[in-house]
Amino acid sequence: MTLIDNFNRKIEYLRISVTDRCNSRCKYCMPADGVEFKPHIDVLSFEEIEKIVKAFAKLGVKKIRLTGGEPLVRKNIVELVSKISKIDGIKEITMTTNGLLLKKYAKELKEAGLNRVNISIDTLNFDKYSEITRGSSLKDVLEGIDEAEKVGLAPIKLNTVLVNGFNDNEIVDLVELTKYKKFDVRFIELMTIGDTANWTRERYISNEIVLEKVKELKSVKKLDKSSPATYYQVPGYLGRVGLINPVSCGFCSDCNRVRLTSTGRLKLCLHSDVEYNLKKFLDSEETLENELVKLIKEKPEKHKLNEGVSIKKSMFQIGG
Ligand code: 5AD
Ligand code: SF4
Repeated sequence: MTLIDNFNRKIEYLRISVTDRCNSRCKYCMPADGVEFKPHIDVLSFEEIEKIVKAFAKLGVKKIRLTGGEPLVRKNIVELVSKISKIDGIKEITMTTNGLLLKKYAKELKEAGLNRVNISIDTLNFDKYSEITRGSSLKDVLEGIDEAEKVGLAPIKLNTVLVNGFNDNEIVDLVELTKYKKFDVRFIELMTIGDTANWTRERYISNEIVLEKVKELKSVKKLDKSSPATYYQVPGYLGRVGLINPVSCGFCSDCNRVRLTSTGRLKLCLHSDVEYNLKKFLDSEETLENELVKLIKEKPEKHKLNEGVSIKKSMFQIGG
């Protein structure tokens, strides 16, 4: 059995949100008046996550990404990486992290079987970093990036969410990070979702500004068809620059991914509020596999963001 949806897309990639908690408070992700996190009792245990990954792996999923909230605040996360890396069929495990705890964990994660990391970094200015995250320290992230590089959690991808009037004047500096290092720096357009919808709507800026500001950028071929980014490079630079446009991306027809929330809900599309509770199928491997094959068929053909439809959840609840 394999996971093929009604539009003939083969699902090979599962993104798992291991917690909705985070040690940061990015302004575009969390509202100023705070958020409510899921009670611990509802969050999937490692055993439950393992069961679900095993079922997916049997059905052809090869790649796992751990996300959050912030995945490194989940207790014993290294142990989970180690468990997943031992599952037959899983070829790659990656993580999306804010990098704040990476200095501490990079080496252990690598040893446990993590292949690489995507690290969020929206500015290279210490004060501005503290401002956009409501108090986190850029120093911790930079040290985290260094450590990830040192232990070989590579190729490292750096994700920058473009915020108008905040970091558009740093585009050139961020692209310069690709000069001597094999980093992919990826500019992501702000999505108007969740409780921060008003904040994000006012600060949206198109990715095209990157190409306007850095005229030297030349289009390069995608290495991975199912990546939502289009890639560019300044000739002679080691790294690449990616542009991710969640709204008008036109990537849906090649989408090979589904998501699992921290409480065990299957999400077939980032931009849909529809969720399927997998917890009730965890008693039998066979039932779980059969249900997954059936549920995958419901994956929507494409999202409707460009028609003005936006989801109720914020990124910390979904995991990007
Ligand atoms: N729009 C775009 N990207 C977002 N992220 C969080 N909220 C949003 C949003 N509203 C990004 C983070 C991180 C990834 C997990 O998702 O910056 O890079
Ligand atoms: Fe935390 Fe990521 Fe949301 Fe920032 S964007 S608050 S790092 S979950």
